Amino acid sequence: MAVLEAVKADITRLAVDAIVNAANESLLGGGGVDGAIHRAAGPELLEECRRIGGCPTGQARITRGYRLPAKFVIHTVGPIWLGGDRGEPELLASCYRDSLRLAEEHGVKTMAFPAISCGVYGYPVAEATEIAVRETRNAPVERIVFACFGDEVWNAYRKALA
Ligand code: APR
Repeated sequence: MAVLEAVKADITRLAVDAIVNAANESLLGGGGVDGAIHRAAGPELLEECRRIGGCPTGQARITRGYRLPAKFVIHTVGPIWLGGDRGEPELLASCYRDSLRLAEEHGVKTMAFPAISCGVYGYPVAEATEIAVRETRNAPVERIVFACFGDEVWNAYRKALA
């Protein structure tokens, strides 16, 4: 049973065992939290991501954290919001489940998630944070931090966690 908490934080600065990256299917970096994580981790992260060769939407892949305080980065690819009847909720839920599977396989005890798909990918924040909390409530790790980059997401998580 994981302890869940929402904090206003830049996820690249959190000293947890693993941080989750909201990546795209190429795994070759981008803007948003993906860009921030690659900048903070340094070039070796991109080299390892290149060797992995991509990740389908709804799945996750794990790499080392390199220059980040976190030991691991779990890269997951959220769905692009297309209105909600193209399987987006199931794909987003799958991002959290697959990230947790990798965390457990690697003995991760503490981990941080950004609000997957809630930025560039346009997923409505209230629905996305509900899915995040539902899928992580019984996670097989000790502590999960929802790293919020702004008030909207932070308030949404606090509502979902209440
Ligand atoms: N720490 C924590 N959260 C952050 C940070 C950060 N340093 N930077 C951004 N965020 C937040 C955003 O404010 C948003 O709430 O992460 C959430 C996810 O937004 P995006 O990073 O845009 O990710 P997403 O919506 O899943 O889109 C993924 O964007 O950056 C590209 O390569 C990425 O193509 C992929 C797409």
